[in-house]
Formats: sequence, C-alpha cells, structure tokens
Amino acid sequence: MSEATEVRVYQPSQDMVSNAAVSGMDAYKALCAEAERDYEGYWARLAREHVTWQTPFTRTLNEDNRPFFKWFEDGKLNVSYNCLDRNIEAGLGDKTAIIFEADDGTVTRVSYSDLLVRVSRLANALRSKGVKKGDRVVIYLPMSIEGIVAMQACARIGATHSVVFGGFSAQSLRDRISDAGAVMLITADEQCRGGKNIPLKPIVDEAFGMGGCESCKTVIVYKRTGGACNMVAGRDVWLHEALEGQADTCEPEWVEAEHPLFLLYTSGSTGKPKGVQHSSGGYLLHAILTMKWTFDIKPSDVFWCTADIGWVTGHTYITYGPLACGSTEIVFEGVPTYPDAGRFWKMIQDHKVTVFYTAPTAIRSLIKAADANDAVHPKSYDLSSLRILGSVGEPINPAAWEWYYQNVGGSRCPIVDTFWQTETGGHMITPLPGATPMVPGSCTLPFPGIQAAIVDETGNDVPWGQGGILVVKKPWPSMIRTIYGDPDRFVKSYYPADFQGRYYLAGDGAIRDAKTGYFTITGRIDDVLNVSGHRMGTMEIESALVAHPLVAEAAVVGRPDDLTGEAICAFVVLKRSRPTGDEAKQIANELRNWVGKEIGPIAKPKDLRFGDNLPKTRSGKIMRRLLRSIAKGEQITQDTSTLENPAILDQLAQTL
Ligand code: PRX
Repeated sequence: MSEATEVRVYQPSQDMVSNAAVSGMDAYKALCAEAERDYEGYWARLAREHVTWQTPFTRTLNEDNRPFFKWFEDGKLNVSYNCLDRNIEAGLGDKTAIIFEADDGTVTRVSYSDLLVRVSRLANALRSKGVKKGDRVVIYLPMSIEGIVAMQACARIGATHSVVFGGFSAQSLRDRISDAGAVMLITADEQCRGGKNIPLKPIVDEAFGMGGCESCKTVIVYKRTGGACNMVAGRDVWLHEALEGQADTCEPEWVEAEHPLFLLYTSGSTGKPKGVQHSSGGYLLHAILTMKWTFDIKPSDVFWCTADIGWVTGHTYITYGPLACGSTEIVFEGVPTYPDAGRFWKMIQDHKVTVFYTAPTAIRSLIKAADANDAVHPKSYDLSSLRILGSVGEPINPAAWEWYYQNVGGSRCPIVDTFWQTETGGHMITPLPGATPMVPGSCTLPFPGIQAAIVDETGNDVPWGQGGILVVKKPWPSMIRTIYGDPDRFVKSYYPADFQGRYYLAGDGAIRDAKTGYFTITGRIDDVLNVSGHRMGTMEIESALVAHPLVAEAAVVGRPDDLTGEAICAFVVLKRSRPTGDEAKQIANELRNWVGKEIGPIAKPKDLRFGDNLPKTRSGKIMRRLLRSIAKGEQITQDTSTLENPAILDQLAQTL
C-alpha cells in the first residue's frame, strides 16, 4: 500500500466501540503502552486474570536458554479444567457448549456438563490403556464432537496430541505417527463430507502397513457411519467399547505451564513437515485473550469458526479458545457447498451465529456461486444475528473483503483480518473490532503486546512504506517452543543467524503503510505455498513427484490464482522422452493422483508441464524465478545469460 493508493477506511460503529472489550483506539494504545513499559508485568497480569492456575507462577519469562523461551514456568494448570470445570463451577453447566451440525444437517447439542462427562470418560479410557502424561496421541478424526472430546481428553491427562487432518494420505499419517513416536491413534471408520462417506480406517491400516508405526500399540475407532471396517485384533478397539464402564469423572493431571499440549505438523521450506510444539499455559492464555479481544466474545454469542480441527485454527478457535471462554460454538462436519453453496448462510440463519470466522478461499468460491444463483446468495438468508466477521489463512483481496463486508455483514459488522501462523498459536496482527479502523486487504496492527516489525536482510528496521521481512522482536507466551525432535531445525528456521538470533522470523514478507503504519502481508519469502489457506512446501511436493518411477526431476512453484490464492505449478522431467498430446495429459493425471496419494488431495498440482530439462544455471541450480514467471504466463524479461539451456523456456511455457 503506497501513499498514492486511495484507501477506504472503515470505522468501527459507535455501538461496537462502546461495548467491545477493547473499546476505542485509546484503549488499544493503552494496552500497547503497558506492554512497552513492563513487558513481563503485562503478560503476568493477563495470565493471572484470564487463566485459572492450580499453582500460581512466580516467574513470568525465562530467557536463559534463548530461543527456547519459557513462560510462567513454575505455574501449574490443566487446560481441560480451564475449558470445562471452571465454566461449570461458574454456573454454566447447562449452557450449550457445542452445536454440532452433521453433513446431512442433523443437529446435536452438548452442554458444558455433558462435555465434561464425555471428556472424563475418554480420559479414563486412555489412562486405562496405559496413556500417561507426556505420551503422544495422534488424532485422525473428522470434524466431530468426538474430535474435540479426544483432544480435550488428552489435555486432561497431560498427553500431548497431534491431530492429523483427515485429508492427509497414509504416507503423511505414517510419517507423523512415526516422527511423534505416538503410543495411540484415535480415528473413525469413515468421514462424511458433501453427501459422501469417505473411508478413514483403511488409510490407517495402510499407514501401519508401511512400517514405522510400531510405537503405536492401540487404535481407537469411532464408529461414525458403520461402514465396512477391518479391526486388527489386539490393536484396534471401538470407541464405544473403550468407553464402557468408564467413570464420569476424571481428576485432571496438573501440568507445568511449559508442558507440551500438542504437536501440529506443518510444512516448511525444506524437507519433511515439522512438528510444531506448543505449551499449555502460554498457549491457553493467548487463545483466551484473542477470543476476548479480537472476537470480543460475550456470554450471549454463538461463535462459528469453519476451520478443521486438523489445522491450528481449529485447535485455537474450536477446541480451546471458545470453550475456555464458556461460549457456545458451532462445529460443522460438512463442506460449504453441500447441499448447495448457501450452506454457510443457512447455518448462520438457523443457529443465529453472531461471530463468524472463515477463510478467503471459502468466501471467494461462495461469491462465485452467489453471482450465478440468487438462491445461494447471502441476501436470500436472514444474517441479522451476525455482529463480527473474521478472515484467516491467507491474504484477503480487497474485492472479497468488500463483498464479505456488504453481503454477509450487511455493512454493519467489522471484519477482523487475522494474520497468524501454526507457530504463533493465535492472532499476531489483527484489527480489534471496537477499536481499529479497517482497511480492506490489511491486517492492520499488532495484537497488544506483540512486537511485530519489518526488517531488511540484516535485521535492521525498514522505514514505513518500504517492504521487508516480517519478524517478532520479543518472545510471546503462545509461541512455538521447539520442533519436536529437532531443536536445531527450530533455531535455524525461526531464529536464524542472519538476525543474530534476535528475532522470530515468520517467513512472510510485509509492508507498513507510510502514513498509518498498517501492516499488509505480501506473501511467503520462503519456498512455502499457500493454496486455499493450506500451507505446503514446494520441496515436499517435489519429493513426492520424484518418488514416482517415471519421474527424473521436478520443480514446483506457486502462481497466483483467483480462487485458491495460489495454485501449484509443477515442471517435470521424465526418465523417458518428453510426452506430448493425450499421452502427456494422461501421465500428468497419473502424477497428480500420485501426489494426492503421497501427501493428500490438497497437494495435487493444478498445472503440470513436461520439459526435456529444467532451466538451470551453469552450476546446476534450478532457476525458480524463471519458473515462477513461466507459471504466471509472463514474458521472460529477466536476464537469462546464466542459463545453460535457454531453449527449454519455450517448451515449459506450453500448457497441456
Ligand atoms: O503466509 C501467512 C498466511 O498463512 C501462513 C501461516 O499458515 P498456517 O501456519 O497454515 O496457519 C494458517 C492459519 C493461522 C502465514 O505465514 N496467512 C495466515 N493468515 C493470514 C495470512 N496471510 C495474510 N493475511 C492473513 N490474515
């Protein structure tokens, strides 16, 4: 955003300003100033006010072993206690915690008391199967009450969960079970999405068949559909059988604040996905604070985050944040386009949703559907219950922002464009709905206390109006603690020597508006792609491609896509001659499906092209910037003098 660009500024309504938890810009600035004055004191105050501790902490931040920071380290708590028991003790036992809507529209309501019983019974079952504090449990479940119960049950007994998104392949599941050294897996027979039953358990069996899952002694299977399901004697047990005879109460395991609540695997620029490890105390604090300040959550709200529990958004804003705040939330099993593209709007109407949080990709695809058919346009539904809208996962383009604001929010609801990452645990840069004037396409200003900044390659601040590298200058409570099993990679990835290990490196580029200082994220600066808000490493996709017997070499880049934000474009050299015509199409399809099986359908390249070779420098380095231009369909204007084989460019420019 430069000074010359005309920017529209949207002020929060007076009503919102008067009633929001952070009321007006002065209140926002006062919080930032408090953190500036006494950084540790600020976070300590908030941690005491918002989290219930079994043993209070006396030390706020320990930086002795930087960048392995510790927060509230001598405090003890239980995250599940904070999400369930403390709400019930406050009189919310009968309040609806979860409104679950299944793919077929069936609605189930669970109160806080019911949820505590369900979590306790499963926690007891896990204990009876030998799961102890610190053990890793992989959860491979569809969107379900059981998924949330499984995560909370792990938290209750101090087991560290690692949720694997239900769309990941057997290979990806196997790699995660193996890397985490999981002792148990919780899964389902099938999942229901878009009117179809999709098998899950066979994928689990395939993963186990690959070897490397030997640490995992028990597989608990939730019977979702009753479809055909092979049970391995001695290893597999039905969830309903595991729960039989278990007591309704379960004493929580009080854990240290730093105890790992979960691992969540995410893609990096090199090699295999990394197991991002989060803490209990600091993580919970930020989940609660962001619910209260970014979403302004109130007792009467009906909150709906449309993410899957397989991603960090589902962890913080489905499993932990809303429950820790005693709110009522929607959990949705299905997809936004089934039975038609009005599903989200109908659900908002039916359940009187007040705070709605979704991804730009979903909005863009629903705009397209609404343009084509009035019946699925938001105007055909009563969305008057809404008061706040949110966006997450990728940059929201101003046109989609405006549409969301006008058509879904009735030009009345603020939009919080929340920038954050798996590693950050919760929101980092975001408007606060009763304080921050909004500018479409900008995630505006840091959450109070978060020291976000933009620097150059040497770590020096760049002036506003000039693009650079997004960093966070001070550790914050909900930050990643390490990469599970690979502390060196943690240091190299996030506290690299380039900045003398001073700052957390987000991996994104950003620019601050010259006048307002508002942040706009300009995209990843590493080899990570963002397709429909899903994060994928180009190297991961390349490795999957070269694992195919026909493939000699592959290079993957991203290109802009109107619907998915970025699209995957793969350039492939086969071991045989370069195919053309129908044969090329057929092999391309085979390779796409192969990637789908290796990683998961979300990683299938949209665009796949064949060459006799790849553009390389004389020293053999693939020239990715050229490939990016080719993928975009741009004329090559860059200097190609160092290119060993310039003729290859024309070949690669041909789409199939
Ligand atoms: O590039 C940024 C983009 O998503 C990345 C983080 O992806 P992941 O760890 O999968 O977490 C997604 C959900 C928090 C970031 O490095 N990103 C996320 N939110 C935004 C965004 N880019 C622009 N604007 C956002 N609001």
